[in-house]
Amino acid sequence: MKRGRLTALCLALSLAASVAAGEQFKVGDEEGWREPDPAHADMYALWAGRTTFRAGDSLYFEYSSEDSVLLVDKRGYYHCNTTNATAAFHDGKTLFPLPAAALLYFISGASGHCPHGQRLIIDVLPPAVAPVPSLPPMAAPPPSLPPVEAPPPSFPPVETPPPSLQLVETPPPSLPPVAAPLPSAADPRPVAAGLASLVMMAVASL
Ligand SMILES: *[C@@H]1O[C@H](CO)[C@@H](O)[C@H](O)[C@H]1NC(C)=O
Ligand SMILES: *[C@@H]1O[C@H](CO)[C@@H](O)[C@H](O)[C@H]1NC(C)=O
Repeated sequence: MKRGRLTALCLALSLAASVAAGEQFKVGDEEGWREPDPAHADMYALWAGRTTFRAGDSLYFEYSSEDSVLLVDKRGYYHCNTTNATAAFHDGKTLFPLPAAALLYFISGASGHCPHGQRLIIDVLPPAVAPVPSLPPMAAPPPSLPPVEAPPPSFPPVETPPPSLQLVETPPPSLPPVAAPLPSAADPRPVAAGLASLVMMAVASL
């Protein structure tokens, strides 16, 4: 087994273990779960805001014997009303698992504590890591590419004929139409001049 693969396997297993176990957060850190000082009535809101809670994590409440932890609904939270609490704990060391994504509301059941800020909203997010899929078998060969049977595209033989060196029989230069008026017999010189120019042009075009 290659070292890299072993490392990846160990990492995957430890990740799976950490997901299964989740993280445990002590509510209020060193302060624990207590009635806040008047100057720090928002201490639990601040504490929750510093932390990301995910399904699989758990909350740990540590508090005095006079205090308690009540799980209530939104209305119970905002009105500090303990009447409809869905769960109540009084043992001083309460481990509360967060099994699924949800908004959870906790208040203290001690008289006057909740209105002074001993209440907590926890926004539980889905698990960060999806369950580790089963590892593929080690012996799995790499996907074999199908043999390339396609022949290279054959080009039809192009029999380029050699450039035929045909003798270009240049047609005789067509004489430009002589726009000059037909020479009249009465005036021989233009005829001679016209003939001379025709001869010149014919010679020039040869
Ligand atoms: C408690 O529950 C009752 C019955 O469901 C409801 O009428 C009442 O409004 C609730 N009180 C609080 C504070 O949620
Ligand atoms: C809590 O709500 C109930 C009704 O559900 C009400 O009778 C009671 O007076 C409320 N208590 C407080 C402290 O608001």
